[in-house]
Amino acid sequence: MSGEQRFFRFLKERIGLDVESVGAPMVERALRQRCATLEARGLDDYWLRLQQSSDEQLALIEAVIVPETWFFRYPESFTALVGLAQKRLAELAGARPLRILSLPCSTGEEPYSIAMALLDAGVPGSAFRIDGMDISPLSIARGQQAVYGRNSFRGQALAFREQHFTDTPEGHRLHEQVRQQVSLQLGNVLDPALKAREGTYDFVFCRNLLIYFDVPTQQRVFEMLKCLAHPQGVLFIGPAEGSLLTRLGMRPVGIAQSFAYVRQDEPVRAAVAPVSHSPRLGAAIAHVPRPAAPLARTSRPLPGKVVVTPPPDGERELLGQIGLLADAGNSQQARAACERYLREFAPKAQVYYWLGLLCDTAGDVQQAQGHYRKALYLEPQHRETLVHLAALLASQGDEAGARRLQARAARAVREGEQ
Ligand SMILES: C[S@@+](CC[C@H](N)C(=O)[O-])C[C@H]1O[C@@H](n2cnc3c(N)ncnc32)[C@H](O)[C@@H]1O
Repeated sequence: MSGEQRFFRFLKERIGLDVESVGAPMVERALRQRCATLEARGLDDYWLRLQQSSDEQLALIEAVIVPETWFFRYPESFTALVGLAQKRLAELAGARPLRILSLPCSTGEEPYSIAMALLDAGVPGSAFRIDGMDISPLSIARGQQAVYGRNSFRGQALAFREQHFTDTPEGHRLHEQVRQQVSLQLGNVLDPALKAREGTYDFVFCRNLLIYFDVPTQQRVFEMLKCLAHPQGVLFIGPAEGSLLTRLGMRPVGIAQSFAYVRQDEPVRAAVAPVSHSPRLGAAIAHVPRPAAPLARTSRPLPGKVVVTPPPDGERELLGQIGLLADAGNSQQARAACERYLREFAPKAQVYYWLGLLCDTAGDVQQAQGHYRKALYLEPQHRETLVHLAALLASQGDEAGARRLQARAARAVREGEQ
């Protein structure tokens, strides 16, 4: 194998990275950077040195990963976690602490956010343990230092910073009380040795990683995550990664914008009312505007049994309600609400996306494609649509089409995060 292809294959095998998803230029830049650092005489020389040095292999991996993360990313998923964790603790009745996994955890913001959310809700430290894992030694070391700069704090709701951090000349230092809840370690989601932890975790967070994998690797990772989670466990994923999960026998828990899934065969649980909590967790950053007055948050309807009364009037309210209905798995009413939206308001990518998703999960592939394409016509960079349409095309054997859309989705993610 010549040129850059062998490096692409190395990265695919070692960390699952699909070069077409992130774009070859990004990996080529990393290769140039490593060659320059080692003063290698071209790619053949660098390839040889890569084969001979595990340190260099790690350095190349560090150069291509995307460690982007921040505290309380997707705030509503933390609200949902708190409610679900309290319910699970009641079920466990003190038999053992909750076990939570954040993989990948990058520099620690995600697992530490989980710890802060639970402590703030009054869950004692002795009642839960969090493992954070990432393939990047540098990120893990930074997470263990737990001193954070401005980039780790985004959005307006930053009261937690005053409460849990001390300002130092190096940055904001996380308090020991939160740190001690979390153990950070190196780990590769593709490592079969992880299977030794089968059924360990009540909650598994795997967010913003799958977007960089091709569909077969995503499938492999989901199987691993399912294995790591307790049979009654809950899987938290990124906003764009749902349709593959439903194909693999998982279903949404039914809490809007939580991106949380359980096994299909898990009995439908009573809906979890978000506990009253620090105001930051109410801050909505979701792409679907939230209803002005949250809809029935304390008595969230069960999937398939949602009664919508009365129908909301405004555009924002209707959009928020579509999100709730779709997340709760109430396809019929969600579809009716989408159709009503399209009759009453200007066409919107998000609504066509919901319609596509609803048809997709109902197995109506033709209709789903049509809706997804309309969404992309209105908003070519609509990330969730790109990812879901890619998964749909892949499931129909159109690998090339799927790859093109995945690459666009990865670009949209990168641009959105800049
Ligand atoms: C964008 S960050 C996501 C962090 C966090 N979950 C979030 O959503 O904010 C992606 C992380 O995935 C890690 N990563 C990439 N490939 C991995 C693999 N095969 N196993 C474990 N971690 C991996 C990278 O090192 C990087 O820190």
